[in-house]
Amino acid sequence: MTVLVEVWQSLGKLDDLAVGEMREVALPSGKLVLLIRSESGLRACCADCPHQATPLAEGMLDGNVLTCPLHFWQWNIETGEEMGVAEAPLEIFELRQENGKWLIRA
Ligand code: FES
Repeated sequence: MTVLVEVWQSLGKLDDLAVGEMREVALPSGKLVLLIRSESGLRACCADCPHQATPLAEGMLDGNVLTCPLHFWQWNIETGEEMGVAEAPLEIFELRQENGKWLIRA
């Protein structure tokens, strides 16, 4: 029998992350995630491009569209769905707030 355990990790308050800003964060597991404060709220995705692992923190954000700086693959940061020439989706992580602090399921 397989038991699934939800693991939520604290990211803190993140009040200093302004709309349009992105921040790469290392989780205790060593996994790197990219936090993005878009106009529609806080999002979290894989920090490395699924194409050739370019750091997406160096990418461009336009509304809810994130563009990799190397070959210009694009994704919707709410869903991870590929757009334009992208050939693979972007991993998106679930976030929630508790007592003013953000938690990520990763
Ligand atoms: S490394 Fe990101 S699109 Fe190629």
